[in-house]
Amino acid sequence: MRTRTLLLLLSLTILSAAAFAQQLIPIPAEMQMQNGSYRITAASVVSYNAPAAQAAAKEFSDRLSIPAGFTLPVQSGSGGPVRFILLEKKEKRIGNEGYLLTVSSDGITLSAYAPAGLYYGVQTLLQLLPAEVEGNTPATAEWSVPAVTIVDKPRFGWRGLMLDVSRHFFPVEDVKTFIRQMARYKYNTFHWHLTDDNGWRIEVKAYPRLTSVGAWRVERSGAFGSRLDPQPGEAATYGGFYTQEQIKEIVQYAAQHHITVVPEIDLPGHSMAAIAAYPWLSTKKDTNTRVNPGSDFADWFANGTFKMNIENTLNPSDERVYEFLEKVFAEVVPLFPGPYFHVGGDEAYKGYWAQDPGCQALMKKLNIRHVEDLQGYFITRLETMLKKHGKKLLGWDEILEGGVSPTAAVMSWRGMKGGIEAAEKGHEVVMSPTTFAYLDYNQGDQTVDPPVYASLRAKKTYSFDPLPEGVEAKYILGGQGNLWTENIPHMRAVQYMLYPRAWALAEVLWSPKERKEWNGFTVRMEEHFRRADKAGINYSTAVFDPVIRTRTNNGVMTVEMESEMPGVDIYYTIDETMPDEGSPRYSSPFTLPPGPVTLRAVSYRNGVRAGNLIILKPEELQKRAGR
Ligand code: ACM
Repeated sequence: MRTRTLLLLLSLTILSAAAFAQQLIPIPAEMQMQNGSYRITAASVVSYNAPAAQAAAKEFSDRLSIPAGFTLPVQSGSGGPVRFILLEKKEKRIGNEGYLLTVSSDGITLSAYAPAGLYYGVQTLLQLLPAEVEGNTPATAEWSVPAVTIVDKPRFGWRGLMLDVSRHFFPVEDVKTFIRQMARYKYNTFHWHLTDDNGWRIEVKAYPRLTSVGAWRVERSGAFGSRLDPQPGEAATYGGFYTQEQIKEIVQYAAQHHITVVPEIDLPGHSMAAIAAYPWLSTKKDTNTRVNPGSDFADWFANGTFKMNIENTLNPSDERVYEFLEKVFAEVVPLFPGPYFHVGGDEAYKGYWAQDPGCQALMKKLNIRHVEDLQGYFITRLETMLKKHGKKLLGWDEILEGGVSPTAAVMSWRGMKGGIEAAEKGHEVVMSPTTFAYLDYNQGDQTVDPPVYASLRAKKTYSFDPLPEGVEAKYILGGQGNLWTENIPHMRAVQYMLYPRAWALAEVLWSPKERKEWNGFTVRMEEHFRRADKAGINYSTAVFDPVIRTRTNNGVMTVEMESEMPGVDIYYTIDETMPDEGSPRYSSPFTLPPGPVTLRAVSYRNGVRAGNLIILKPEELQKRAGR
């Protein structure tokens, strides 16, 4: 009896140690589980061997203190049993951002060459503890770390997320939360989209109207792009901006989390907020220009081109525009210590330039025939300005059109094509393609999630490889997920759109390609759902949902269903009843009877309902067949 109990206990311990290995996102480069574990108690001293290792040691102690209800002593030296060590000699297998972590029943040793490596090691260590460690209140848990040896370092040096704070404004505390949560998944770059048609969000003392006027729009809700235009005399009450002091505070906060902030001032297009503040920045100088609340201000055509019905592009032929930008950069650029400054360059509509006599005269002077080439002229002037500040220009892939100097860095968003072309020309490239990394797109069925014009499922994001075959690795800095906030008004919605896709992307950007495997990831993703629950962080469960496609052949409609998650059973009805485990279980494509039918489908996993109920009415089933 005693032997059996012991055996049972032993196998439980081994099982739970193995289970702990299932909870790391991103998965480490190398990891060996061993038997046993180290139990952390209030007496577990955390020692650090160098002043620069103190912050990581303290981070570990601080993060544990609330859920554990005790604070680990943090001391200089090497007494341990939890030891933080900054190595004197660089080791190739961990590089600048990597770390070595050894846990045995005697204690924990975390070593790295640089503070960033220790910081990432702490994130791993915390993920090895029970989910309760994420809670904001004292919890009862066994604070044991399984015995393990980890050798880890990132695949890419640029592991980014972008937050658009123009379409909706996010106060300082929200931005800090965004940064803090990024850091837990070993992201190191925060791209801050600070200006657009819907709000200018950064204080510029030389041009106070940029924020007194440009940061405010009329209050609207409803789907972006079809909202009511500002009405005559209507007060602009929605918005906000960051003072330069707040920007510094956030940049410093990010640095403490080993995150570099890359600011973006989007030029010459996407500038309606600036033009509302200073109409002379545009060609038409229309003093009725207002900061846009998300109204229908552009016509989009099937070939991907578009027409702006309100001017939102700065005038490249007016020297006053360059004086303005010189002054803006003089104030803004020094706030950000990182090497890159993002100037946008995307979706700049040239229609107003084509009609403007000043632009025509400039084209003549420059001996250029196409109005598009004025974009090259404009961006090149920006690059000259930024070089004076010691910064590298970074822009969306449109900057390749109209010519750009080889020292400019390119962010590829219209698929991977621009990035590949840029790398071939010798530009540095960050891959953030719509096809894998646009986190504003729907991740679930458009009949359940608020519809966005395109869809991107978590599994697709996970399949992203920022380094396409045939491209020289040295040009690909890394990759980035972009969160445009047209339809994202607050942090709960931000989190819903981020997770689980930002976890998938974290693994894409950090872990070796060979370690990536979707089914294994889903097990860890589910553990992170539980952790997010403890932390009060929102996420989407669309990965469980039935993914439904239809096709018609000779008037007969066939339905195909699958789920992104392995091991999910889908039950459905076509008889106007609610589906459950007693309904037909989907096993292979089936045809629908003639006449209008509504399909209802729901997922179960291990007998438990998971995800959303999907209801597709006859017209929606038809619409899908047409795609
Ligand atoms: C972009 O999505 N317009 C860069």
